[in-house]
Amino acid sequence: MVDGGRRGTAPLSAEVHPADGPIVGDYRVPGDKSISHRAALIAAMAEGTSRIRGFSTAGDCGATLGVLAGLGVEVATKSDEVSIRGSGRFLPPESPLDCRRSGTTMRLAAGLVATAPFHSVLTGDRQLLSRPMDRVAQPLRRMGARVDLAPGGRPPISIEGGTLTGIEYRLPVASAQVKSAVLLAGLRASGPTTVVEMVRTRDHAERLLAWSGVPVRRQRAGGEVLTTIQPADPAPFEVIVPGDLSSAAPLMAAAAMVPGSDVTVRGVGLNPTRTGFLRALQRMGASVEISPSSDGPEPHGDIRVRHAPLRGLRIEPEEVPSVIDELPLLGLLGTQAEGYTEVRGASELRVKESDRIAGLVTGLRAVGADTQEAEDGFAVRGPTPLLGGRCDARADHRLAMTFAVAGLVASGPVIVEGIGFVADSFPGFFETLERLR
Ligand code: S3P
Repeated sequence: MVDGGRRGTAPLSAEVHPADGPIVGDYRVPGDKSISHRAALIAAMAEGTSRIRGFSTAGDCGATLGVLAGLGVEVATKSDEVSIRGSGRFLPPESPLDCRRSGTTMRLAAGLVATAPFHSVLTGDRQLLSRPMDRVAQPLRRMGARVDLAPGGRPPISIEGGTLTGIEYRLPVASAQVKSAVLLAGLRASGPTTVVEMVRTRDHAERLLAWSGVPVRRQRAGGEVLTTIQPADPAPFEVIVPGDLSSAAPLMAAAAMVPGSDVTVRGVGLNPTRTGFLRALQRMGASVEISPSSDGPEPHGDIRVRHAPLRGLRIEPEEVPSVIDELPLLGLLGTQAEGYTEVRGASELRVKESDRIAGLVTGLRAVGADTQEAEDGFAVRGPTPLLGGRCDARADHRLAMTFAVAGLVASGPVIVEGIGFVADSFPGFFETLERLR
């Protein structure tokens, strides 16, 4: 019941029809995007060959590999296995480094090129060129890099790096991307680099740096988390990237909402800084069973989700980083839950691939939801029968998957426009959805 989903310049549309029975079965998702980006960048800073298995097939992670190739790093890809041969240094790029639509690529790569004694430019497509980059420019300037941005603090980012000094940096916005960029730059700084977080964000960079032999110290002090690294050369490593919980989440949401559903996602990441969505699903009343394994730097395992009657919930600001990319799905779940679902402290959603607060509220209303927009979040009153209609995903992969799942619980078809970029995170999403329904 679905058309389109190809990656391309013209975003396509999909028509999703109501589920005529439960969503049932096992599935797998591509490797975790956040871990894949970081594994590739850290491997590029090591001298020797690293092997990354389960590397994400998402377009965004392909952008990171392209940036590394542009810096003279040898990258070999065979389906989801990537070998990266670093030489401990980078070559000046011959042209601007294209981060395509990937904000994580741009912000993390900014930290990496800040370590190199030459000029480079990080650019991307129109959507990425409208996203804020000041947040990463500021700490890198304090470390000694020369960083210039376009007006309004937007990309392209022009960087001349080389001689960096370690700093202590208190993150003004809870952003794992900024934390990771500063830590990567800190590898080649003189003296230690400390990042202070008021709210803990995903810690994949810290885990992978430690996995590659870099001394990483983490302390808690008065409600803050301090992460300190010493300048060091990462050693080449081998790692298996678990599946991406954020890509697994739309089908878990579908299972939680459609009566009789029972799905299991295999081999997915269970890092506690990322599992806010599982905790939220449980609080809403869904049945969530987790079978964990813990070899390698990242916890992972299988998750079984079964439908149950849902109730609304409130997401507090301190929970937001652990569920940031799944918040649109919580809005959709709220339409099928008894009572109020409210998300606050999430103004970061306004500067993702699209303004996800405005896009979500507009899209859900278009199919019949009772929802209000707030500056830093949204509220949904449920349960509401969704009627179907047209939603604009605004070329944003997370909104596209959320609206596609809305089609399963509506009484009429949902036409999702602007889905062309689902492959940014989950190529194969629509095929997996079709197989389980
Ligand atoms: C990411 C961090 C989050 C998240 C993004 C990936 C990462 O962004 O929304 O999809 O890999 O570090 P922020 O750090 O900007 O919140």
